Amino acid sequence: MDLDDYRKALDDLVVDIQDPRALAPSERLAMRERLRRANMVIYRCVAGARMDRTVLAAFTRQLGLGRPDQNLLAANDGLSEVEVKNEGHFSQYIPYTNRSLNWHSDGYYLTGDRIIRTMLLHCMSPAAKGGSLEAIDHRVLYHLLAERDVRFPQALSRRDAMTIPAHHDHGAAREDSTGPVFFVEGNTLRMRYTARQHNVRWSADALFQDALSTLKDLFENHPDLRYRRRLAEGEGILCANVPHRRDAFEDGDKSQSKRLMYRGRFTESLKGTG
Ligand SMILES: [Fe+2]
Repeated sequence: MDLDDYRKALDDLVVDIQDPRALAPSERLAMRERLRRANMVIYRCVAGARMDRTVLAAFTRQLGLGRPDQNLLAANDGLSEVEVKNEGHFSQYIPYTNRSLNWHSDGYYLTGDRIIRTMLLHCMSPAAKGGSLEAIDHRVLYHLLAERDVRFPQALSRRDAMTIPAHHDHGAAREDSTGPVFFVEGNTLRMRYTARQHNVRWSADALFQDALSTLKDLFENHPDLRYRRRLAEGEGILCANVPHRRDAFEDGDKSQSKRLMYRGRFTESLKGTG
């Protein structure tokens, strides 16, 4: 892992897209290059490029992604509209409030054939104030952990590393979910993580706890490793489900100043990530 190259990639993460329904070969190549170097890319639809959920589906299909993983709060096409929702059970979930979201990978509670390998967040409309996104390539975290102590990434790769207790809610049930933080599929490193304090059980031994607190330190105290952006209308992040967070935000009174993101979670990998 070349950290200098990673930092350079973060400085040059944006790829302009003329027509999301028909990507040019050069646009695909540019996206793949960012994904290879940083496990993430920011795409920016040029002014006038229309985006709605049908166009978004056409865009992701060209990248080899199938239908987004269906979850309880997603619409029928699998895309979730992440915005402040005051009604019903949405408001119990922090993503659907204007509060900050701590570091996590999407679907960290999923295992087996529902592992989320790709995450997309597309900005239809930014908040009036705040709501910036931050993300880190988990390969960098793994590399830096190993530099501190080779046993740290090993400890976090144990199959009993993280347990999310069973959850029963609104007719949907999920049993205890136990699995590693880091794991490898083929040549691809993946990460499941949540910084939440409640409803997560970690391995308790001293080495594991050292590894975990070192990981938390990397998230909190190394701004040079983080990509930070306040997504504008028409921009989105596509990534290998790298850990990410968001700032709290304030919506304005008009609908154009209310934050609305489309979120897709995919089990497929993006070409170029790894
Ligand atoms: Fe997320």
